Amino acid sequence: MEPFTIRLEREEDYRAVEDLTREAFWNHHVPGCDEHYLAHVLRESDCFLPELDFVAEAKGEIIGNIMYTKASVLCDDGEAFAALSFGPLSVLPDWQGKGVGSALVRHSLGRASELGYTAVLIYGDPSFYSHLGFLPAESFGIGTAGDDYMDALQALELVAGALRGKEGRFAEDHAYEVDEAAAELFDQTFPAKEKREGLPSQLKFLQHVSMRRPRKL
Ligand SMILES: CC(C)(COP(=O)(O)OP(=O)(O)OC[C@H]1O[C@@H](n2cnc3c(N)ncnc32)[C@H](O)[C@@H]1OP(=O)(O)O)[C@@H](O)C(=O)NCCC(=O)NCCS
Repeated sequence: MEPFTIRLEREEDYRAVEDLTREAFWNHHVPGCDEHYLAHVLRESDCFLPELDFVAEAKGEIIGNIMYTKASVLCDDGEAFAALSFGPLSVLPDWQGKGVGSALVRHSLGRASELGYTAVLIYGDPSFYSHLGFLPAESFGIGTAGDDYMDALQALELVAGALRGKEGRFAEDHAYEVDEAAAELFDQTFPAKEKREGLPSQLKFLQHVSMRRPRKL
């Protein structure tokens, strides 16, 4: 594996991180992408955790990034359980499949544990996150905000048993609700890129999104 290091993101990295996020996500889930705009606005949001905002760097180039936010589980007993979430997680296309994404996740989870966080919930491809110890949130009785079980909703306990008795609905911060018009304007500040439809990764994403069923029947 080619050498790379992981460190906290710095202000001077912002544009490079947004650029790499755009490269990583472009046409991946949908034609084009808005994750680079999400990265741009997330840093200004109250839910953002700069102490868990890491970049991977190789030969002075930023090749990957992971950003964390505060999230919660709205438990069936009426309590709100404080959890973590992350995303975007991005690796430059030329660097994908070389362990960078896994290293960013493992490194940041280690730091999150040191900081006293106990559980992480995210939306993502189960085939990637299962490598890293994530389980379907369903196995903890946790569904989406709309109260569905969804395979793409993945959970990890940083402290064994942390999610025991926390059945309920995952609530990620409103900062993830992207203003599409603003995202489009932001995208125009980058070099033009072709939007493509019908790609295998887009069909797989649609499959993941559609695999949901009511949590309570
Ligand atoms: C998904 C992503 C972050 C993974 O990072 P990466 O550096 O490419 O992944 P790694 O090299 O650490 O891969 C670890 C394992 O997961 C697998 N994997 C990587 N990406 C995967 C994906 N999208 N789906 C399924 N498995 C994947 C790899 O094959 C590897 O398996 P192996 O160890 O058995 O060979 C990166 O590919 C990326 O930026 N993709 C585009 C944006 C994206 O989808 N982000 C995540 C949104 S939830």
